[in-house]
Amino acid sequence: MDLHARRADSFGAQAEAYAEHRPDYPVAAIRWALEPLGTSERLDVLDLAAGTGKLTGVLVAEGHRVTAVEPNEQMLSELVRRVHDVRALPGHAEHIPVPDQTIDAVFVGTAFHWFDPEKALPEIARVLRPGGVLAAMWIEHDDDVEWLAEFERISATSVESQRQDPTGMMAHPAFGAVEQKTFPHAQRRESPEALIATVNTHSRMLVVDDEERASINEKMLAFLRSRPETSNGPFDVPLRVKAFRMVRVSE
Ligand SMILES: C[S@@+](CC[C@H](N)C(=O)[O-])C[C@H]1O[C@@H](n2cnc3c(N)ncnc32)[C@H](O)[C@@H]1O
Repeated sequence: MDLHARRADSFGAQAEAYAEHRPDYPVAAIRWALEPLGTSERLDVLDLAAGTGKLTGVLVAEGHRVTAVEPNEQMLSELVRRVHDVRALPGHAEHIPVPDQTIDAVFVGTAFHWFDPEKALPEIARVLRPGGVLAAMWIEHDDDVEWLAEFERISATSVESQRQDPTGMMAHPAFGAVEQKTFPHAQRRESPEALIATVNTHSRMLVVDDEERASINEKMLAFLRSRPETSNGPFDVPLRVKAFRMVRVSE
């Protein structure tokens, strides 16, 4: 298995920690993504690559009929354990186990970069009703904040983080133009150890060897214990959610 595939499949080994330590998504970004549908009614929404349900839970709380699709068995089990009122199905973005034109909006949280876009985009187009929306979101540290930018540098591993320009990846003739908006968000962490636990659920940490992981964890802990922002009890980690939406055009 190549590194990309190994990383895409790495999350399940830490599924419980993932569910416990990863941030959720801001409601404002979800509402913005659904604006082109022009309704505030209950919608049929698909959370693709749903993981342990970080985005799924927010979609359910917004009152939508939610189907969650996720290939990794351990991640999907955590989702089923933690999020109720959702139809949870095993499956991949390249072969979505949902009938044609039955979905109003497909959401993808911090996962589109793991897909094969040439196969996933026609599949997403197939399950969407005309006028439906594809919304892809990525959660990032707000590196305009000085301590967090420095923390990012310290937590880098020999495996690079997966940052690409999604507008190129997402373009497809079945969809209109990609629109983008960035939303401020934050995650409360009780201690330096809790932030380190979050970082340890990222694929770039999951696939490095034990020695490298231990050394980076040690450096992160020393840094967070040395900073006034993070060494005096609970703190907020400033985040940015980059959201992209595009509308399924009629055939
Ligand atoms: C970083 S996690 C994001 C999970 C969740 N959406 C969230 O925001 O917390 C990436 C997820 O993508 C899933 N994944 C990887 N390759 C996939 C594919 N080809 N199709 C669907 N899901 C995939 C992984 O199993 C993992 O659960």
